[in-house]
Amino acid sequence: MSALSAHVLEEIKELPSKYPQPRSAVMPALDLAQEELGHLTPEAMSEVAVALELDPGYVEGVATFYSLFHLEPVGKHRFYVCTNLSCMLRGANEIVDRLKQSIGVTQPNQVSPDLLFSYEEVECLGACEFAPMMRLDHKYHYDLTPETINDVVAQLRKTGLLPTRGEVAPPHSSGGGPQGRRGSAGGEIQAPKKPRATRKKKADG
Ligand code: FES
Repeated sequence: MSALSAHVLEEIKELPSKYPQPRSAVMPALDLAQEELGHLTPEAMSEVAVALELDPGYVEGVATFYSLFHLEPVGKHRFYVCTNLSCMLRGANEIVDRLKQSIGVTQPNQVSPDLLFSYEEVECLGACEFAPMMRLDHKYHYDLTPETINDVVAQLRKTGLLPTRGEVAPPHSSGGGPQGRRGSAGGEIQAPKKPRATRKKKADG
């Protein structure tokens, strides 16, 4: 039995014609597979490879390189906390500690007991001037404090929706960032429609 539905496989097969290089279809194809299954199983990756007529090793290589793709089950809401230099200097460690405490996990990629949350630490998301910051699902949240984390987690637990924090402005750091408008104090930024493909943080040691 196929891991992916016939409908999704059909969509995946149509993707290569939309790109100058058919291999470019691999990321949107994996995205469709993940959207259907929640995470990318080995069977799903091989079905993507067959549908796109690509080498399975190449498909797996893309899936394992980007933190956008999950190879294990993840929480319904996913936090990507930047712990690169600017964010680190402005308290990213404290943000990670509070997040772990708030969602009830002890390490990255662990799913919270209520199955709602998981998190990972990622490299620079291109919004350094708003440090410390994170991406939560498809939105950027900036100027984080431990209290912000408590608020966001509590709100998601209660309503499943993110708190609204007013106008937001575009980061204009050299790293490039999401488009939006910024208000006076803290908040969220709508990430690009297609979330930036964040790079996985290398394991220590
Ligand atoms: S260092 Fe965190 S967004 Fe750049």
